[in-house]
Amino acid sequence: MLSFHQLHHHFVGEVSAIDLRAVHDRDTLEEIRAGMDRYAVLVFRNQPFTNQEQLDFAERFDGKLHARTSTSVVTKNRFGNEALSDISNVGDDGKLLAPDDRRRATGLANRLWHTDASFVDPPGRYSMLSARVIPPVAADTEFADMRAAYDALDADTWASLEGLTVHHSIAYSREVLGFEFSAAEKELLKGAVHPLVRTLPGSGRRSLYLASHAAAIVGWRLPEGRLLLRDLMEHATRPEFVHRHAWRAGDFVIWDNRATMHRARPFDDSMYRRELRRTTTLDIEPAAQAA
Ligand code: OGA
Ligand code: MN
Repeated sequence: MLSFHQLHHHFVGEVSAIDLRAVHDRDTLEEIRAGMDRYAVLVFRNQPFTNQEQLDFAERFDGKLHARTSTSVVTKNRFGNEALSDISNVGDDGKLLAPDDRRRATGLANRLWHTDASFVDPPGRYSMLSARVIPPVAADTEFADMRAAYDALDADTWASLEGLTVHHSIAYSREVLGFEFSAAEKELLKGAVHPLVRTLPGSGRRSLYLASHAAAIVGWRLPEGRLLLRDLMEHATRPEFVHRHAWRAGDFVIWDNRATMHRARPFDDSMYRRELRRTTTLDIEPAAQAA
């Protein structure tokens, strides 16, 4: 039996002591899923995963892994597996990336509010981030609760958003930062269309599905579409909806990309190593639930 300690008025649960490497039984895994439905972000402390153990846990918990990452378009994965995202500021030699390294620029884009893998179809469901090396200075991650943000809108706005769909493009969010892609890379990064409002199957709650990758509302002129998306982003990231996670080495944080946005906060990445590894599952019916 797990217990959850809520860390923010709306969401985020810290989970009681457990070694996820040893969790194989479906009951406990479903207890974690129920925690995800309620808290949208779960914080586990002291999880000494190896890369393989992390990959195994992610699949065991929630099924098929996302491997068509944006980073895979720019560089080859340091661990030989695109499903294990290298959320770090070091290169193959383990040394800090140079300021003008393209891999660094890609990583910096995590400082924009986003959801993981919203630019592919099926999109990402759960992301699981394992903290391996954490700097001695603050290098935090913020999360925003998109269910609470939806609930706080008024009825006229709810009605006006009904049925809208959004084009999510990672080329768009990167180009906003001045990042350039070749034609071949752009072809790989065409993006995907998703509903702006989703109903979450586990909780029945409604949620805004937004991200800096959100480039256009389908069928709308660009200025109007982008202005509405900007307004919603501004609303959804108001301080009352935001929780800041200060990392400790060994932390393992799982978030629901359908119910939250997140962003990395700046730190001096020319000075300190920061190494995390991420696994993200795809939002398809989990095998265990389909069975
Ligand atoms: C991610 C991400 C933010 C951070 O791993 O998907 O956006 O603070 N990370 O590293
Ligand atoms: Mn991310």
